[in-house]
Parts: sequence; structure tokens; C-alpha cells
Amino acid sequence: MRKKIVIGNWKMNPPTLEEAEDLFRAVKRTAGKVGKVVVVVAPPAPYLGALRRLQSGGRVHLGAQNVFPEAKGSFTGEVSPPILKSMGVEYVIVGHSERRALGETSAEISKKVDALMRRGLKAVLCVGEAARDSHGEYLGELRGQILESLAGVSGKNIQHLVVAYEPVFAIGSGNELEAKDIHEAVLFVRKILSERYDKGTALSIPVLYGGSVDKKNAGAILSEGGVNGLLVGGGSLTPHEFAMILTVAHKGRSYDAS
Ligand code: PGA
Repeated sequence: MRKKIVIGNWKMNPPTLEEAEDLFRAVKRTAGKVGKVVVVVAPPAPYLGALRRLQSGGRVHLGAQNVFPEAKGSFTGEVSPPILKSMGVEYVIVGHSERRALGETSAEISKKVDALMRRGLKAVLCVGEAARDSHGEYLGELRGQILESLAGVSGKNIQHLVVAYEPVFAIGSGNELEAKDIHEAVLFVRKILSERYDKGTALSIPVLYGGSVDKKNAGAILSEGGVNGLLVGGGSLTPHEFAMILTVAHKGRSYDAS
């Protein structure tokens, strides 16, 4: 059975390396007890080196929150896929709505996804509508985002793609989408992925949900939401909360799209 993937997206937190190390140690302790979950932590990039040293002997996979699509060169302030790979990073979040809000376009995102997958890094492509309307126009927005973010991304390295469905209004708001609405949206995401590739490929791509996931709603989202895992922001910054989410994911029923 496919393992669930739970990614802690720390965003621009915590404020010091010392706190980041404490948080990471706590996740590492929990990760040792949740063998049915692929546990990923995506810290701010400057912490990666120190956390990599703490990672040794444990089950926590390292993630990053962004990447630049070129391999090397004169791109001040940017970080490439080979740099991340050499730091032990395996998963890279791409196209998060907070980055799209800073001006990142789907065309840029597709280059990042492609650059990561070609180097064997997992690209965690975030998509999600800004708001919902009663006419279903948001589905068009979602469809456009998925197809544009995967334009030029061949099916060849598709085993390295993960999609995170994150409705923007649910992020950081405390208002997660209900499990049945997540399920509907995830079916739609898979439908677009099968149009883009084929049905078998679409079913093989893990789809995660993100947006105000906490220890209380994680179980229902995982068992009824049709997802293969979770992308957790705020809930990953408190050791106890994240430990509970990971435990729920380990113990709970899993959803099998195939
Ligand atoms: P949240 O963030 O869990 O704090 O809503 C999720 C995300 O932005 O990935």
C-alpha cells in the first residue's frame, strides 16, 4: 500500500536556527514511530545544512520551499536543483500561492517543476483556486493553473511529481475545506492530470491537500478527502500538533485512488 506523504512547510519560520533544530529534533522523534508515513520537513533554505546533520539515522526527509530552474550561473540570491540535491533535499515545494502572490507565474513554475523532475527531485506542485463561486468558474482557474504549470513537463519523469491541492482561502485561515469538497476537487485535479497525461499516470501521481490542516481535521481529510497526504503549514510549527497529525496519518484509514 502506498505510504501517505505529510510535508511540514515551515515557511519563514522559526526565527532562529536554535529553534529550528529543536523543532526538527521533535519531528525526528515522532517520525521514528510513524512508519506508514513519509515525513518531510521543508525549512527555510539557510537551515538545511544544520538540519541535515540532525537528520542522520532518522526518518525525516528534507524539503525546500522554492528553487530556481537553472543549474548554475549568475543568478544572485537563487538556489538551483543541484545545490538542493547536494544538501540532501528530496522534495521541493513549487508554485505555492504565497509565491504566486509575489508574482511567480505558471510559466515560471513549469520550468521549475521540469528542472526538478529531470534531476530526480520530487516537485510538489501547489495549485488551488483563490475563491469559490456558485457557477464553478473556480474549476476553470484550477484547470488553467494545472495545465500551465505542467506545460512542457513530459511524462517521462512523472514518478517525481506530487500535486498539492491548496485552496488559497483555506491557507492559514483556520477554515479548511470540508472532506467531501476536497474529494470533489481532487477528483477534478486527477481528471485534468489524466487529460494531460493518461489515466494510469494520473492515478500514480500523489495528490496532497493543504490549507488549515490540524490534528482535529487530518483524519477525516485523509480518509474521506481522496488524498494521498497533507501539506501542513501552521500545524507543523508546534511539535505536539504536528506529532498528532503524523500519528493520525499513520493510524488512520487510507484512501486508494486506484
Ligand atoms: P496552513 O498552510 O496549514 O498554515 O494553512 C498550508 C500551506 O500553506 O502549505
